[in-house]
Amino acid sequence: MAERIMNPDYVAEPEKVNVKRGLEGAVVDTTAVSKVTPETNSLIYRGYPVQELAEKCRFEEVAYLLWNGDLPNATQFAAFEAKERAARDISKENLQAIRLLPKKCHPMDSIRTAVSFLGCEDFRSVGGDSQFAAGGGGEAGTDVWGKTSNPDKALLLLAKIPTMIAADYRFKKGLDFIPPDPQRTLADNFFHMCFGKSPSAEVIKCFDASLTLYAEHSFNASTFTTRVVTSTESDIYSATVAGIGALKGPLHGGANEQVMHMMIEIGDPRRAKDWMIQALNEKRKIMGFGHRVYKYGDSRVPTMKKYAQKMAEVTGEKKWMVMYDALEQTMLEKKKIYPNLDFPAGPAYYMMGFEIDFFTPIFVMARTAGWSAHIMEQAANNRIIRPLSEYVGSPERHVNR
Ligand code: COA
Repeated sequence: MAERIMNPDYVAEPEKVNVKRGLEGAVVDTTAVSKVTPETNSLIYRGYPVQELAEKCRFEEVAYLLWNGDLPNATQFAAFEAKERAARDISKENLQAIRLLPKKCHPMDSIRTAVSFLGCEDFRSVGGDSQFAAGGGGEAGTDVWGKTSNPDKALLLLAKIPTMIAADYRFKKGLDFIPPDPQRTLADNFFHMCFGKSPSAEVIKCFDASLTLYAEHSFNASTFTTRVVTSTESDIYSATVAGIGALKGPLHGGANEQVMHMMIEIGDPRRAKDWMIQALNEKRKIMGFGHRVYKYGDSRVPTMKKYAQKMAEVTGEKKWMVMYDALEQTMLEKKKIYPNLDFPAGPAYYMMGFEIDFFTPIFVMARTAGWSAHIMEQAANNRIIRPLSEYVGSPERHVNR
């Protein structure tokens, strides 16, 4: 692994160079998509508080809002929804590609690959002079960057990603693929494609609200990644594949899976306090806690916690939320660090019946809405993203041969 081998004579000159490691505190562009205000624990999408959207709107309406700037009226929503429902099928070749993936590969790797495959099928995302760019999926090279075709491509991603994830879910369990059902909402259809049946309306609402809460969060690591890729005039599929790669890490989206592994490791809520104290003494990072921007609590947590509690009522599995409270309280007492959205989302998805390694792919389903909004915003007013670094390596030297 390439380490940062410092030149021993390097002298930092803070008055000359202001290095912002991890881009902490750096404002790198403007956006009209969403705003996080840590002082008031608030998050707005296009002006609307996220809690209101989670309670009163469906995830599909929220995607429309993020892309178009306003909530749809009834006619606009009917047209949008009809398009989304009609676009859910994936090609038999893409389905076969998912089927052929190693059974043990992580579902985040599967969805990254399936989205890449979709990009290969959309010839609008291929350079015009490519010898392979012929036939199917739109005219080759017409709008690679997607300035005009991105709304259409974003809709394909929103509609097809749940189908790809559910297909992978079924194949990993040795089960047959269940095709999407256009009569169902996006959330209901996902349960149908994974389990072959719908849960109660209450459970569908918990899941749908979680998608809204996960849909967008300003310049987080994966969204920023999609903007960097877009800034080179690359296409939306490449940007989304890169976003999935960034989201996979446990410091970002992968944390919702790690939360559940941690809760299972603890096992009994009565052990939670001692487990947490010991983990902190061992300087372990506790998954589902802390945030780069929020320092006094994550705006999305109270709503998601409410829905996780609802899942505990519906399933009768009370222990996870008892453990939740014990871990939260101990972390606050010992470190004054608050839970982030992944902390309630982990047990909520578990109680819905999903396998743990599908929690982050579900996050992908939701964040596709936010990524696409940012990709379109970046493409509409672009400047290539290219920061600087401070060189701390060896002074100039020469190959003495
Ligand atoms: N568990 C234990 N300690 C934590 C912690 C956690 N989850 N999150 C932050 N801290 C501690 C750090 O160790 C550090 O302590 P120190 O000053 O004694 O060294 C202090 O709090 C500041 O944290 P820092 O790592 O500088 O914050 P960051 O902004 O760089 O990182 C996260 C933010 C989200 C990456 C970090 O909180 C984390 O790794 N959380 C767990 C993963 C997670 O839940 N990710 C999902 C984010 S939505």
